[in-house]
Amino acid sequence: MPFHGEERIWVGVVAAMAVIFLAALAYAAWVVGLQVPGGDVQLVEPQKALQELKPGVREIAPGRYEVIIVARMWQWFPSNITLVNPVEVKFRLTALDVIHGFHIVGTNVNVMVFPGYVAEITWRVPQDAKGKYLVVCNEYCGLGHQNMYGVINIIR
Ligand code: CUA
Repeated sequence: MPFHGEERIWVGVVAAMAVIFLAALAYAAWVVGLQVPGGDVQLVEPQKALQELKPGVREIAPGRYEVIIVARMWQWFPSNITLVNPVEVKFRLTALDVIHGFHIVGTNVNVMVFPGYVAEITWRVPQDAKGKYLVVCNEYCGLGHQNMYGVINIIR
């Protein structure tokens, strides 16, 4: 008999916990589906990102912009953006080298930017937003990290 006394109880407890955890995992996979995080994200080879994504600002409908930004140590490209009467801005971002963090200070626009992936985040611009907004990098990306910033200028 390999187990004795209280040992037997604890083996039972551990086995029960393992069953509960596996059941919880199976249930979550059944309810949510087995997902690869960001599985529907667009991929782009970092070496080709500049040609393929064509960084810049496009107004796709009145007040609706798509802004494509490429990050590299230690700048955003483009880093100086002007938006006229923006309502909704969809940012699409990728990085050429390491992980950067795109954050528009004073807003909830804050997304990690990975080489090889196109991150998307939409900013519903408050009606009273105007003037200059500072963009910073909030993922440490090397010696010049603290100098990696940009400006979004909103004109009403
Ligand atoms: Cu880019 Cu820190």
